[in-house]
Amino acid sequence: MRIEKAKRIEQIPPYLFAEIDKKKEEMRQKGMDLIDLGIGDPDLPTPKPIIERLKKAAEDPRNHRYPSYEGMIEFRTAVAKWYERRFRVKLNPKTEVLSLIGSKEGIAHIPLAFVNPGDYVLVPSPGYPVFRVSTLFAGGTPYFLPLRKENGFLPNLSEIPKGVAEKAKLLFINYPNNPTSAIAERPFFEEVVAFAERYQIIVCHDAAYSEIAFDGYKPLSFLEVEGAKELGIEFHSLSKTFNMTGWRIGFVVGHSEIVAGLGRVKTNIDSGLFQAIQEAGTEALNHLDTPLPEIIKTYERRRDVMVEGLQGIGLEVEKPKATFYLWIQVPRGYTSAQFATLLLEQAGIVATPGNGFGEAGEGYIRMALTVDETRLKEAITRLKRIKF
Ligand SMILES: Cc1ncc(COP(=O)(O)O)c(C=O)c1O
Repeated sequence: MRIEKAKRIEQIPPYLFAEIDKKKEEMRQKGMDLIDLGIGDPDLPTPKPIIERLKKAAEDPRNHRYPSYEGMIEFRTAVAKWYERRFRVKLNPKTEVLSLIGSKEGIAHIPLAFVNPGDYVLVPSPGYPVFRVSTLFAGGTPYFLPLRKENGFLPNLSEIPKGVAEKAKLLFINYPNNPTSAIAERPFFEEVVAFAERYQIIVCHDAAYSEIAFDGYKPLSFLEVEGAKELGIEFHSLSKTFNMTGWRIGFVVGHSEIVAGLGRVKTNIDSGLFQAIQEAGTEALNHLDTPLPEIIKTYERRRDVMVEGLQGIGLEVEKPKATFYLWIQVPRGYTSAQFATLLLEQAGIVATPGNGFGEAGEGYIRMALTVDETRLKEAITRLKRIKF
């Protein structure tokens, strides 16, 4: 039988990291010792109290049955309390909080609830690839908002043509930002609220990195800004905050009707988040510091080693205030892909070409600080030997 894929799949390039994985495997087969700075997946372990709570919760037969799709009320209450403590934002845990099987799941499903074929979705470029793909899956048209260095990697909303803004249904934003590591301050969020109000656009703020920030800096919640909860939602994740990427636990908060719309999609697709993991997540949010000082100190040290090393060999990179990413300009004469290939082939260093995050990422590569300091120093030593 000839197996024919749906057009929806055909139009989507292979997941960015799948391509990189293939290339990495090739190099590994050749015996190269790789230093993988390609994927933002924390190498540090999940804190012990979270693991202990999971162990206990896994023994409880009540947790072996289907969970409720919206999440346990204990977990949603812990989220609401954390929001109030951390951001001074009040949330109703029953209607304004929904658990997610990782924030990626929510981001992937949200356009299904609100986007009709032909609607525009405003998507940052470069940006987390799922914003664009989830738009396409829902039959929407992504309209890319370039994030440029001269604008602090914030989108310039005044550049969006009126005709596009009028037909836009969703706006995705993400600060602290992947891949540029840029941060957003209150005036930008206020501008977003005014813009979204004017054109009646739902704002989806992805705050997956809100707890990975340095030198005492504390990122804002979009919902702290007046009017934001009337038109938006915010995605969060325990993945980066507590080194829990493998556990698959996140949540969405904000406008009750938007949250309910996503919930309606989820009731028809998944059966909720394993309750034992929700119990462990509740433990984390109720009892651990956010940010977790040990995690932050580790990334801070790595950031300093790497930024100084890269600048020392003449590469242009800024010291980020947040996220565990470095957004590095490629030297003159190279494309992102050419420079990433050079690093892989000549130094065994895996970095992600910036254009993989969208056309406007061309001219950059991204490195993730998710390997230990010794290996980062080794990476710098190897880089010093390359001529570019
Ligand atoms: C910007 C951004 N949002 C969301 C996610 C998804 O995180 P998770 O599904 O683990 O919550 C990631 C993961 O890398 C990310 O970089």
